[in-house]
Amino acid sequence: MSIKGTAQLAARAGRRRAARQFSAPAQNFDKLGVIGLGLMGHGIAQTAAAAAANDGVHSSIIAYETDQAFLDRGRDRIQKSVDRLVSRDKMESATAEALMGKITFTTDRSALSDTDLIVEAIIENMDLKKKLYSELGAECKPETVFASNTSSLSITEMALASSRPDKFVGVHFFNPVQVMKLVEVIKTVHTNEDEFERALDWVEKIGKVGVKCGDTPGFIVNRLLVPNLIQAMLMLERKDAETRDIDLSMQLGAGQPMGPLHLADCECTLLKHKYQALIEFMKSFCSAAYSLPVDKPDIGLDTCLFIMEGWVKDFPNETAFVVPKTLKDKVDANELGRKTGRGFYLWEGDKRGDPVDG
Ligand SMILES: NC(=O)c1ccc[n+]([C@@H]2O[C@H](COP(=O)([O-])OP(=O)(O)OC[C@H]3O[C@@H](n4cnc5c(N)ncnc54)[C@H](O)[C@@H]3O)[C@@H](O)[C@H]2O)c1
Repeated sequence: MSIKGTAQLAARAGRRRAARQFSAPAQNFDKLGVIGLGLMGHGIAQTAAAAAANDGVHSSIIAYETDQAFLDRGRDRIQKSVDRLVSRDKMESATAEALMGKITFTTDRSALSDTDLIVEAIIENMDLKKKLYSELGAECKPETVFASNTSSLSITEMALASSRPDKFVGVHFFNPVQVMKLVEVIKTVHTNEDEFERALDWVEKIGKVGVKCGDTPGFIVNRLLVPNLIQAMLMLERKDAETRDIDLSMQLGAGQPMGPLHLADCECTLLKHKYQALIEFMKSFCSAAYSLPVDKPDIGLDTCLFIMEGWVKDFPNETAFVVPKTLKDKVDANELGRKTGRGFYLWEGDKRGDPVDG
């Protein structure tokens, strides 16, 4: 999206925030906790600390990891990121210092007990997250609101484990957090409306554009992107159109960076900057279900099949979730896309060849 387009969206979000504040000013989350300082958590802590330093959004931020080495790594990541901004004249060194000064780095979880909002960004594992939330539910003051940054897990399931489902939301940031504007803010059937509005307001106060979404698989972005791939396969199966024509249509007619069948075939190494959210979602989905390392660059048609089979099983009444026979056949034949040299296209290394099915 153009800078102008993004600015317009942000302005609209600002107007929405102003309108909300006019009707009922949302109460600030004064003290923020961030759990997990990996790829996402360090970005969330940094972004919130910048808003704290510049606009007084938070009095302090408690950044927590279980292990000192991971905590140090998270601190270094933030320090390097702000140093880079200073060296490029994008941040005053005094602001960088104030930003770092807003964050308390700790491995002592009791420091989180009196925070007002906790954003969790630990690895994508439901058992681990539920254990964490059940402990936090007992340790934190009753008013603390919990927010998970999960990409692929049920917010409702975590909310119930926390024993405070009314004070539980999802905040799905995109990578890299410091740059990406969008945050999907997820509400479950249990979420209290006031807490949800506060979470949405917080997202916008730290400079992001928040969108509201229910606890639907894939939230908005991936809930629409994955079925897009599936529908393209079904079109092919019905012989409505051929591979190249489907892909060209979506590329040239709908402005997609690459067509859906081409995308389904690809490994994330090829897609890095184009479909970051989808790749990350697919990786998270697989890491949650298979305990694969999150950075395993191994998505392809088997990953598409795995996600679809999971969604069909969990949401049997959702008509958008189907497993195309073509997809199943290709995976059974080990035609997994680029990584095995053959999928919807033939591949020679990173070079895409002719379509396999016409
Ligand atoms: N990677 C992405 O692009 C992306 C985008 C949006 C959402 N997410 C979601 O954000 C979450 C984190 O993903 P990530 O890519 O930052 O992972 P990551 O592996 O980079 O970071 C996870 C961090 O959590 C820490 N951790 C693990 N268990 C912990 C615990 N019990 N307490 C405290 N810290 C703990 C780890 O030490 C690690 O530093 C996942 O739920 C993922 O689905 C990821």
